[in-house]
Amino acid sequence: MLFERRHLLGLEGLSAEEITFLLDTAESFKEVSEREIKKVPTLRGRTVVNLFFESSTRTRTSFEIAAKRLSADTVNLTASVSSATKGETLTDTARNLAAMRPDAIVVRHPSAGAPHLLARHVDCPIINAGDGAHEHPTQALLDLLTIRERKGRIAGLTVAIVGDLLHSRVARSNLYGLRTMGAHVRFVGPTTLVPPYFAELGAELVNDLHEGVRDVDVIMMLRIQRERMNGRYFSSLDEYSRLYCLSVDAVKKAKEDVIILHPGPMNRGVEISSTVADGPYSVIMDQVTNGVAVRMASLYVLVGRRREVEVEETSEQTVREGSASATRPASAPSAAMPLRRAATAE
Ligand code: CP
Repeated sequence: MLFERRHLLGLEGLSAEEITFLLDTAESFKEVSEREIKKVPTLRGRTVVNLFFESSTRTRTSFEIAAKRLSADTVNLTASVSSATKGETLTDTARNLAAMRPDAIVVRHPSAGAPHLLARHVDCPIINAGDGAHEHPTQALLDLLTIRERKGRIAGLTVAIVGDLLHSRVARSNLYGLRTMGAHVRFVGPTTLVPPYFAELGAELVNDLHEGVRDVDVIMMLRIQRERMNGRYFSSLDEYSRLYCLSVDAVKKAKEDVIILHPGPMNRGVEISSTVADGPYSVIMDQVTNGVAVRMASLYVLVGRRREVEVEETSEQTVREGSASATRPASAPSAAMPLRRAATAE
């Protein structure tokens, strides 16, 4: 299986084979984080720029850890210390970074489509680390990996995604990924945050929390994203938490072996009670651990495998030119044909 894309901008449009390949690759990288020396030479000599225009704990840290565990050099740039504060456009920032020849740029931005814009202006792989309310592909991949690990499968499961669906990039990426992998997705929340047109995306819509989580295999709770709200979506936070905070009572409506996810950051007592967040069904810390493996896999398939292709092609060119030293480099993979195809992918 090949991942023949130059960028990772979203899960919309990815095939089940591509998602499975990313999950399998992530699974194979998990072992590196269990070693005493948590490092492999895969991306030695490569540079990854983390460009974050929004705050982040999990995504930025795990991308940096992932790059370092692959032996890449990392550069972190946040909006507050970038020349964006002096009026530089996103495209100019990206062009200037690209002129320094990084091997990948990881970008988080409050505007939907920002990573797609960068992908048109720079010639290195772009990884979307969250763009507005649009997509957060590596979050959904780590969610899928966590579900697959715990349940042994994704196809046939019913997954309730609960809360502020309207503003959630996590929900969108998960909807695309879960449906492609054969799961049934239920969006649960008040009509103001789960508008009827969301049904067109292929999700079942339910307004009542207890009905929404009934008999589900997986509950994924979402944070109320006040930073993206420009109106009133409920009377008060108290009222919202009374109706939609995941309590032990609500969890009892789900299947006995339900697992509970939350992408973080959590607002304890608003969308999830501490008893549930820290309870036996919670896999929230597994998600964080899997985040490193998924980001290692994303960097590897976009940067490391491309490098393998370059090595392979150089080797073959040397052979064609009849050089006396035309032996395959020790580091070059033997699967020449599929890797050559990957080199031409966009
Ligand atoms: N889940 C997530 O994206 O968390 P951060 O905002 O901390 O990166």
